[in-house]
Formats: sequence, structure tokens, C-alpha cells
Amino acid sequence: MTDDDTELEARLEEQEAFEPPESFVEQANVTDEGIYEAFAENWPGCWERAADLLEWDESYDEVLDESEAPFYEWFVDGKLNASHNCIDRHVEAGRGDEVAIEWVGEPGETRTYTYDGLREEVEAFAAGLRDLGVEADDVVTLYLPMIPELPIAMLACARIGAPHSAVFAGFSADALATRMTSADSEYLVTCDGYYRRGEALDHLAKANEGLESVDHGVSEVVVVDRLGADADTTAGGDQRDFGELVDEHAGASVEPVPRDAEDMLFLMYTSGTTGQPKGVKHTTGGYLAYAAWTSRAVLDIEAEDTYWCAADIGWITGHSYIVYGPLALGTTTLLYEGTPDHPERDRMWEIVADNEVDIFYTAPTAIRAFMKWGEEYPERHDLSSLRLLGTVGEPINPRAWKWYYRHIGSEECPIVDTWWQTETGGMMITTLPGVNTMKPGSAGPPLPGIDARVVDVGGTEVEAGRAGYLTIDRPWPGMLRTLYRNDDRFVSEYWAEYSDTGSDDPDDWIYFPEDGAKLDEDGYITILGRVDDVINVAGHRLGTMEIESAIVGTEGVAEAAVVGGDHEVKGEAVFAYVITEEAADGDEALREEIVANVEDAIGPIARPEEVVFTPELPKTRSGKIMRRLLEDIASGEELGDTSTLRNPEVVEKIQGSVGER
Ligand code: WT7
Repeated sequence: MTDDDTELEARLEEQEAFEPPESFVEQANVTDEGIYEAFAENWPGCWERAADLLEWDESYDEVLDESEAPFYEWFVDGKLNASHNCIDRHVEAGRGDEVAIEWVGEPGETRTYTYDGLREEVEAFAAGLRDLGVEADDVVTLYLPMIPELPIAMLACARIGAPHSAVFAGFSADALATRMTSADSEYLVTCDGYYRRGEALDHLAKANEGLESVDHGVSEVVVVDRLGADADTTAGGDQRDFGELVDEHAGASVEPVPRDAEDMLFLMYTSGTTGQPKGVKHTTGGYLAYAAWTSRAVLDIEAEDTYWCAADIGWITGHSYIVYGPLALGTTTLLYEGTPDHPERDRMWEIVADNEVDIFYTAPTAIRAFMKWGEEYPERHDLSSLRLLGTVGEPINPRAWKWYYRHIGSEECPIVDTWWQTETGGMMITTLPGVNTMKPGSAGPPLPGIDARVVDVGGTEVEAGRAGYLTIDRPWPGMLRTLYRNDDRFVSEYWAEYSDTGSDDPDDWIYFPEDGAKLDEDGYITILGRVDDVINVAGHRLGTMEIESAIVGTEGVAEAAVVGGDHEVKGEAVFAYVITEEAADGDEALREEIVANVEDAIGPIARPEEVVFTPELPKTRSGKIMRRLLEDIASGEELGDTSTLRNPEVVEKIQGSVGER
């Protein structure tokens, strides 16, 4: 490092607030500070601004119907189609030749879809789906990696009014089966495999294994041929080839079906405190309007941009900010199939430079990995096309924020640290990049129109600087409408904590995201993390119960407790404390079996970092496992109060076993 560098590092280290760069503000989509007041004064009417970003087949009668809170309805009686909004209207506006999707495969090939080209593919596949018997309201499961056929299938479903349910390709066969069964989904679109670090992964074998345990009959399976000759498993029996189906229907014209604003656009399963994943229901009008609005206001997306969100479409981030939001705004959205370190650790920066990417959105876990690898990798490439950076999924520590700001953004790009959830559909707490001062580590103020507060257990707002629980006190268009076929769980999971659930006054209904938070004197919110039994590994939400039940299913295991422990790159890592049955040995063989069972039940992302065998778990006198304590042990932290334990002596034993590993 030169002396100048050292000086700069020292200055950055100290700096707690950053103003948006002038060059950015000059061109930003939103620059008026007055937007906060304007939204507050005209609530819920302010949300017409979001709806105005879309083209409606029939305009809505009312912005918000609160009469059945918390079953809110947005843009009541409006009709629209998401596929039309993401494709056709851009073609009709004369932009058919502009690029919609730019795809980069891991081995290096690329595919470019213009809006015209995307429409052709989507129409052909929509016709194919109809041919297979898919009708409006049938749930189509998409078990696909980061290949263009995934957004094509999503938009084809949307076109004919069939909700999709995407299952992250990294999830296991069991996870696929649970989700298909829960959604009663009779249609599956999957592929033969995909590339990861140069290796061809057999995805179809996993899909087929999952299909065997789906409770109901699955009518049709469509398989994308991604691997060609590299595939181990290829479509068999009645399975249809995606490419052939599209070819058969090439040139088909499939009119986008007008959908009610409140009709389901898709289902997205996410983890909660019980073993059973929750099917979060998102709608056509409110969700799409909110995804488009936040893409414009926060990500500053314009039609001319090349925009890259390096998440996976199998998660909500990819739904809202790779597919629906960006395409609704008519931009170029970039998709990358592989990992950031293949063939080398500069892959992301090479892609940014090659495609002159304007906006880059990723997770803190990736930024921490880049930081660990070192700035020599971004330095190899010209990143000057970038104008805005974003992060999502977990808290970002100021050190990683500043590294991102300096080494990727060259101190010329604002960073938006966006807090939101699968359930919120879109961003909720973040700075507006052309308006607000940035404070590394703090997500920022709630977006205009969003009423977020930090309260104590009783629901009273806490003073600035004090930690409390985050609540959202008013509905918003992108909110989940319910949990699929489970209204009771919807109410008990998200509303029961702080609402008067007997009330028919909408003001008495308060949404509880189950995150801890802290507010500062400027109204900025720092997210402290989950307050339920959910852990966040590399920006992915995992329920501890799901992992525990996989572990307890292992022969020889009597009891298990899973917690999150600090991890340098992943943020949190899975720690499993396991009590064996009397006859079983807590040995390497059992440990391997436990890890394998977790991977089978959920996927490699849930793989325990440590499996600690222990004769007992620390329990309170009432028999409740003291998770806090297990978390402290996992993170190697000073232990909290152990005086309420029934078995305090066990703590030392557990610490001893952690040390052994
Ligand atoms: C949970 C939601 C939103 C898409 C990715 C994750 C945590 C999310 C932030 C952030 C601190 C964050 C919260 C939240 N989270 N963004 N910017 N700062 N924490 O979606 O799987 O539904 O998880 O992720 O704990 O509740 P998800």
C-alpha cells in the first residue's frame, strides 16, 4: 500500500456517514427529500405512484381495502397481467430490439434475449404449458438453476394466470417434495443439470428422487436440456423436453390473461419456527407495483441500464429484483449461472466489465468473501461503468461496507443496504440513494409510505439508541396476503404478537417481522437479526427446527439443538449439539451420517459447520433448552447468565467438546 492508500484507509475507518456522490444525485430517479412527507400526507393514495408504473387492463376502484384486516386488498378490482407488463408493453413501445435478459453461463457461453426474443420464447412455452393441461390457478413448480428458462417459465406461467412456485435448485429432493405436496402442484419444470465450479451437477436425479415422494400424482414434468452430452441423467418416460415443447409451439400467440390485482402471482416457500415451510402468497397487482416502484426508487433502474443482481432467482431476491421489478421497468437484467470464484476469483468483476454493468446488487456474505480474497481481483478490471451498489439479506458490518464502497464503487457509487423479507415482497428499510446520507451498518430510514417502528415487548416505542423489536404498523402493496391455505398460521405468525387480533379496526393490526432492531436519533434503523428460531446462513433463511428434525431422524441420535454461531464469511453458520442414544457412539461415522441427513432433508446450505456431541443440553428448570447459551458457545463468546440452569455443569463439558474440534 502507498502512503496515500494508508491515509485513505484511516480516513474511511473513522468516517461514519457518507453523502451520496454528486455525480449520482444529478441523474437519480428520486432526488426530492419531500417524498417522505408527500407519501405520509397522502397515504394510502401515495401508492398510486407505484401502480402508475404498470399498465392496467382495467383500472382499480380503490387503492386499499382495509376492511378485513389483516387480509388487506390492494388496487381493488384492477386487472393486469405481469407477463404483459414485463414484456409486451415494452415491445409495443418500440423497444423490442433492446436486451431484456443477458445470460452468462458458468463455462463462459452467453445468451442474449431481446424483448422481442423473450416474448417469442415466453409465448411458445406458455402455449406448451397449456398443451400439457396447465390452466389458470394451477400451481406450477419450477426447480431450476440460474438459466434463462427459469425466468421464461415464470413469465409463461404469469401469462396464462398459473401461479409458479420456484424451489431453489440447491434444495434437496425432500425439500422439493414437501413444497410440491404442500402446494398440491401437479406440474414440474426442471432440468438435467447445471455447472458449478466447472463440474456438471446432476439435477434431474435429485428432481426424480423428489418426485417419488410427492403425495399426489404429478401430471407433467418438463426437463430443460442444459448439459447436452455432459448429462448423467436425461428425461425419461413421460417427461417432456423443454426445447422440443417450445419448438412445437414456436410462433404461437398467447394473449396475456387479465388477472385480478389480488390474484396470486406466485408462491414462495420460506422457513419459519416450525418444521413445516411457509407458502408465502404474493399477488399480481400489489406485488408487481411494489417491485417496480422499489426497483426504480431504490435501485435507480432505468430502461437503458444493464443491471445485475447476483442472487439466485430461486429466492425472493431474484423474483423481485432479477425478474419482476427490473423487467417491469424494461431494463437489461443480467443472469449468471455459476460461482464467483470460477474459473478465478475475479469472475464477477470480469462480468461487470464485459457487460458494462451500471448497478450491482449482492449479499454481505459475498462481499465478505471478496474482501477476504483481496482487492487485487477487482483491480484487474475496469469497474467504472458502475453507478450504484446494493446489499441485501443480512446485516453488513461497517468494515465490509467500506471495502465495497472503496474497492468496488471507487467512492463514486452510493450503497443501498436494503432490509426486507420474503414476506414483504420488496424493500422496506433503506436509504434512497439520491436523497439520504448513508451510515455504514445501518440500513436507513423506512421507505416513504412505510411505517416501521422499534418497540419493546409491550409494543411501546423505545427511545433512540435502545434495542427493541421491529414492527410495521401499516400495510404496503408488496406484502404477503396469506400463507397458502393457512390463514390461521398467517395471523399467528405475523400479526398475533402486537395486534389486537379481535379488532376490526385496521389500525390495531401490526405486522411483526421477527427481527430485532435499533433506531438512532435520525430515524435510521439498524437491524440486529432474527429474534425467532431462524438462522441466516450466507443470506439464506433456515429454520432450526427443520435441521433438528433431520438430525433426530438419524439412527443413534436421541436429541438435538441447532443454533447459529458467528462465521467470518457466512455471517452465521449452523452449529448442532447432539445427544446420542445410550448404545450409540458420538464418533466420526455418526457425524458424517448426521451431515448427510441434513443435506438430504434441506440441502448443502444447511450443512452443519460443527456437530458437537454432548451428554446433555443446557436446560432451564422448566426444561427449556437455553439456546442463547449454545449460541454463545458456538460463537466463542463470553457466556451469559447460567444461574437459571438446571444443569450448569453441562456447559463446561460442551465447551470442552467444541474445543476438541
Ligand atoms: C431476513 C429475511 C430479503 C431477501 C433476502 C432474505 C434478514 C434481510 C437485511 C438487511 C439486516 C437483513 C432479516 C430478515 N435481512 N435484509 N439489509 N440487514 N438483515 O430474505 O430469507 O426472507 O430473510 O433476512 O433478518 O428478517 P428472507
